[in-house]
Amino acid sequence: MVIKTANFVKSSKQWQDCPEPKIPEYAFIGRSNVGKSSLINAILNRKDLAKTSQTPGKTQLINHFLINETWFLTDLPGYGYAKVSKSLRKDFEKLITNYILNRKNLVNLFVLIDIRHHPQKLDLEFMQWCGKSGIPFSIVFTKIDKLKPNIATEHTNIYKEELLKFWEELPEIFTTSAEKKQGTKEILSYIDKINAIL
Ligand code: GTP
Ligand code: MG
Repeated sequence: MVIKTANFVKSSKQWQDCPEPKIPEYAFIGRSNVGKSSLINAILNRKDLAKTSQTPGKTQLINHFLINETWFLTDLPGYGYAKVSKSLRKDFEKLITNYILNRKNLVNLFVLIDIRHHPQKLDLEFMQWCGKSGIPFSIVFTKIDKLKPNIATEHTNIYKEELLKFWEELPEIFTTSAEKKQGTKEILSYIDKINAIL
């Protein structure tokens, strides 16, 4: 897929404020600082369209981008950010889960996982919640430039083994680096393929 246009539409505080759900939507989700906004920029080949930061908790609203005038790419706030108060964290979680459960045009969630870490309970639980809620998702490993290739492969395999303890089949898995623009074409072709059958 060639990105002809990529435009910021709006930031929304909750799913009720999001743009009209008239076209297919794909959302990026994952822990704070995992690299959601960076990967969105890399995929769209735009430098600062989605705001990134070294400090976790940068994205606090639901951000919609209109791509090629035909589909939405959505940048969500991160979950599990430890440095905010418990009640604020709960508010964020509610915002995210309500968005996922109520957004009618949501076609697929890309769940981002930092490849440097071993499987974390919070991410695994989140994916199980998606499964139970009937939400289609794919896994996107991020920041592969930070590991040597053999270690990255080892980490991916450990993750797959962990997933197969709960799932009969593995979801679609992508391995990416926003820094090196790796894996971005694969994600776009996947979206293209789904858009074509919708
Ligand atoms: P929140 O909005 O806070 O939830 O974070 P986010 O998931 O959107 O992360 P963001 O894209 O802001 O990136 C967080 C930090 O990780 C930034 O300092 C990025 O430069 C860095 N980063 C993101 N992707 C990559 C990558 O592929 N490789 C490397 N080396 N660094 C990355
Ligand atoms: Mg962000």
